[in-house]
Amino acid sequence: MDFEATSRQALEEIARCADASSLRAVEREYVGRKGTVTSLLATLPTLEPRERRELGRNANRLKQVILEAVEARSAELAAAEVQARRSDGSFDATLPPAPLDAGSLHPITQVTRELEDLFESMGYAILDGPEVELDFYNFEALNIGRDHPARDSQDTFYCGPDDHLLLRTHTSPVQVRAMQTLTPPFRVIAPGRVFRNEATDATHDHTFFQMEGMVVDRGISLAHMLGAMKTLLRKIFGLDPDVRLRPGYFPFVEPGIELDARCPFCREGCNVCKARRWIELLPCGLVHPHVLRSGGIDPDEWSGFAFGLGLSRLVMLRFGINDVRLLLGSDIRFLEQF
Ligand code: DAH
Repeated sequence: MDFEATSRQALEEIARCADASSLRAVEREYVGRKGTVTSLLATLPTLEPRERRELGRNANRLKQVILEAVEARSAELAAAEVQARRSDGSFDATLPPAPLDAGSLHPITQVTRELEDLFESMGYAILDGPEVELDFYNFEALNIGRDHPARDSQDTFYCGPDDHLLLRTHTSPVQVRAMQTLTPPFRVIAPGRVFRNEATDATHDHTFFQMEGMVVDRGISLAHMLGAMKTLLRKIFGLDPDVRLRPGYFPFVEPGIELDARCPFCREGCNVCKARRWIELLPCGLVHPHVLRSGGIDPDEWSGFAFGLGLSRLVMLRFGINDVRLLLGSDIRFLEQF
């Protein structure tokens, strides 16, 4: 190949291009995947070393020259186009720019932040705990010993061979961590992700959200707990809800209570409350003395209440979401609605 001549010819063709598409065509002709310079470079491995060096240097230099010329011409053409549009009036520098697509907060984040604000205003601290948890915190210290039947209902994902580490099945282990690090009296909430090893369907997912709450003080009674729960429900549903208490069994509270709220959406039953007219939302109770002791707190001096709000559940109620799997499904069509 006569590099001088090819170079001259290529530069002339580039300079003659009057628009982007003809420029692309010229670029393709020389340095595209099947361009003349590219094809020449592809033959290099078959040549003698001396010849290869010489030809390689020339071909690469030519390629460089062509690419630079294309780039320069491309910038010229773009500038000329703006100039042309400015002078024919179709370019209006005063037009507002196209709007930016703003993201939005995930509905779980929205509700979590709202509840954090509420509890902060009532003097609660917000705690975080590890998602990979020790058996001790998830079970043992919560009065759920090795052979306790309540373990069966928790469908635990164990990590590692000795069942020592696990993905927390609830946010309750943060209660124990709170007792170990804070000195009573204290009030805390701990929103977060929890995991259960179970088959998924519209109302079950392997990963979901809860918000734990715990208050430790002197002389805490069910009346304190009920007051706090009603404030919480008022914030959530925007009205003073009717509540119903049923006994519930959780090894870490005594008494344990299932607190149901009357369905805020209907009187006669709807598909939100599944025609039950009550919504099961807030298990709670007075902290079991064994649990206080596990956290290093003297149950003769201190008492407390705790609750475990089903955050995913609540978000579904709030926004009328009928499948829990949507929450973590990353479907942009779902997420764009919030
Ligand atoms: N940790 C329980 C669960 O996920 C829920 C719960 C019940 C939390 C009662 C509490 C409580 O703090 O007092 O099944």
